[in-house]
Amino acid sequence: RTVYVNGAYCPEEDARVSIFDRGFLFADAVYEVTTVLDGKLVDFDGHMARLGRSLEALTMTLPVSEDELLDIHRQLVTENALREGMIYLQLSRGAPGDRDFHFPDPEETRPTLILFTQEKAIVDSALAARGAKVAFVPDLRWGRVDIKTVQLLYPSMAKMEAEGKGADDAWLVKDGLVTEGSSNNAWIVTPEGTLVTRQLSHDILPGITRATVLRLARERQMKVEERAFTTEEALAAKEAFITSASSFVTPVISIDGHPIGEGEPGPVAKAMREIYIDEAR
Ligand code: PDD
Repeated sequence: RTVYVNGAYCPEEDARVSIFDRGFLFADAVYEVTTVLDGKLVDFDGHMARLGRSLEALTMTLPVSEDELLDIHRQLVTENALREGMIYLQLSRGAPGDRDFHFPDPEETRPTLILFTQEKAIVDSALAARGAKVAFVPDLRWGRVDIKTVQLLYPSMAKMEAEGKGADDAWLVKDGLVTEGSSNNAWIVTPEGTLVTRQLSHDILPGITRATVLRLARERQMKVEERAFTTEEALAAKEAFITSASSFVTPVISIDGHPIGEGEPGPVAKAMREIYIDEAR
């Protein structure tokens, strides 16, 4: 694989980042994951807008222009002949000479920018066809999960805990309310047929796929509510699904071992998945 590190393209085995990098020592870095479908970037502008928002929240700046970032994404797709999968971008506050809790002077320390591609069959996903099983796990993340930082230890632990219970992923729960999945946004369809997903706040990541699915549902006159829902409401839902760049819309068929609806991918989730894929293409 050809990867990108600080202005240069190189084979992955030659890529080097300092051991003093603040991404490595402090998780002082933000990231984006952009889907590639049929060799084309999906929702690139949305991902770049959210990157800008994350950077602003952490007083970091892009070392390259947005046009250059687009070129780098396209170059990696070409170099790696990527048809379907993702591009991972990470920008850290750089590598000052020492370990120090203070942010380094941006005039002196250059941010570290890395990008790499990852192949993945997203359209023909076995998990989407079968439907995902999720398990409730307490949301013990920090208070600003709306910033897309690489602080992903707890989401990783939550996913392992969910898998230990025989599920595929975790639905995180705070004060009896579902926040989101370990790396995706959580949705339910109420018995009345209303789509519900949590409102934006510091408690969830503003998903780019979430925003597109909201728009597509509203354009089709479907009833949509952006609000928090309880674990009880989730268990009593007619359907459930998750959204993310790397899974599009994936039906959820059970929560904590309780079947949701018929215990099979529901018609609304399946339709939204098709609509989303058509739009992405
Ligand atoms: N995860 N919520 C969380 C906590 C996430 O990490 C993600 C994305 C989402 C969905 O956002 P989007 O639709 O923009 O992908 C929601 C990415 C895919 C990841 O970490 O791999």
